[in-house]
Amino acid sequence: MLKIENLHVRVEDEEREILRGIDLEVGAGEVHAIMGPNGSGKSTLSYILAGRDGYEITDGSVTYNGEDLLDMEPDERAASGVFLAFQYPIEIPGVATMQFLKVALSSQRKARGEGELSTPDFMRLVRGKAEQLKVNQDMLKRPVNVGFSGGEKKRAEILQMAVLEPSLCVLDETDSGLDIDALRIVADGVNALRSPDRAMVVITHYQRLLEYIVPDHVHVLSRGRIVRSGGKELALELEKDGYAAYEEQAA
Ligand SMILES: Nc1ncnc2c1ncn2[C@@H]1O[C@H](COP(=O)(O)OP(=O)(O)O)[C@@H](O)[C@H]1O
Ligand SMILES: [Mg+2]
Repeated sequence: MLKIENLHVRVEDEEREILRGIDLEVGAGEVHAIMGPNGSGKSTLSYILAGRDGYEITDGSVTYNGEDLLDMEPDERAASGVFLAFQYPIEIPGVATMQFLKVALSSQRKARGEGELSTPDFMRLVRGKAEQLKVNQDMLKRPVNVGFSGGEKKRAEILQMAVLEPSLCVLDETDSGLDIDALRIVADGVNALRSPDRAMVVITHYQRLLEYIVPDHVHVLSRGRIVRSGGKELALELEKDGYAAYEEQAA
């Protein structure tokens, strides 16, 4: 589904490469965890997949279902089923969460040539998903992320994912301050949305997350390179031994 080959990236106007040759293949139904110390390039990888400005791809390719992902506009990526959750979700004052979800779903359906859902059908859909994910109905009326606690932001993000039903989910988890409740919310959401035709890439600094989400594959990113890949047992090893050995290896 997702194939990253020899990806090299630098920040525009800077010499230094942040990603220095990433290779990664993610198949349908798989959950991959990308772990690594602060500054290793985890968020940069998620920004590249999202199509954020300010980065220059100096080599390599990213294909999604056989298409050149890097050649697609961010909204095309979303419409074709790519969902990205960022480390720092944006706040949208004046736009209720329900309304935001409606606009997001409508524009994606439109881009795919699907008809618009009627308001009652849409409400039913969101209420159903909210209930399933234990999202308080009150939250749906509040402006997107405004004044949300860390845990509420995570819940809103997972709800968004559930409503949009993407085929590739990339979640960049916060490096600090993610409390155990927020961790559980993300993990429960990811686990609930696991499916044979959906792939997930969970990016995290925090080994604890993988006690709740059991990944099929784990990759260690260090200084812009994947220095080790393995199964779920690699996460346990990292929890015990930390990242120090890999930092030397990547230098
Ligand atoms: N826009 C930018 N301008 C300058 N340096 C950047 C920019 N984005 C990322 N970097 C640098 O690239 C490295 C990787 O950052 P990042 O991808 O945020 O790492 P991680 O998410 O693994 O902590 C860091 O050294 C960071 O300072
Ligand atoms: Mg980061």
